[in-house]
Amino acid sequence: MYQLFTTLVYQKKMAFNLEDLKLEIQQIMTADNAGLRWSKQNYRNGYTSYGSWDQMHKMSSTFERLQKKIDAHVEAYLRKLEYDISIKALQMDTFWVNVMKTNTIHSAHIHPHSVISGTFYVDIPPKASAIKFEDPRLGFFMNAPMIKEKAQPRNQRFFEIQPQSGDLILFESWLKHEVPLHTAKQPRISVSFNYGWK
Ligand code: NI
Repeated sequence: MYQLFTTLVYQKKMAFNLEDLKLEIQQIMTADNAGLRWSKQNYRNGYTSYGSWDQMHKMSSTFERLQKKIDAHVEAYLRKLEYDISIKALQMDTFWVNVMKTNTIHSAHIHPHSVISGTFYVDIPPKASAIKFEDPRLGFFMNAPMIKEKAQPRNQRFFEIQPQSGDLILFESWLKHEVPLHTAKQPRISVSFNYGWK
């Protein structure tokens, strides 16, 4: 049996001072007026610095250190994917923060213009929303039958990963994903980034 045309999603614990990072995110959220305004209009109940303060690795030494750690994981992921490039061919283009308060949703999307995207989870309370990935071939299955409910992850059409604080998740930027409605009382805090061609 062959396993062909697979999609790899990377998940690993990454040691970092989460308390300091969380404090810095709270400061960012207080100061980023443009992001607060944008989020109020477009990201109901939540806050994102995407589109405003989305170069955090150039603005903050904490995020710069974080970027260097993530670089090493992107390198490992590229090796697993067997891409014929090293991390040197890529650069982190954007790095931003996400705070999903109760009843925030992040609908399905891809990250155009990028190669590798991902999220580092800073504070994930109990019952926080997962990240849900969608089979990129979903439009091609025509008359294919339903998948068994307990099918192995590799055969499922959708797959949810429940991250924990301190987890790093990397995926290819073309892979569609969403964060279903976050219903927990405490906010779900993360930082996300895109790597593009240098
Ligand atoms: Ni995304």
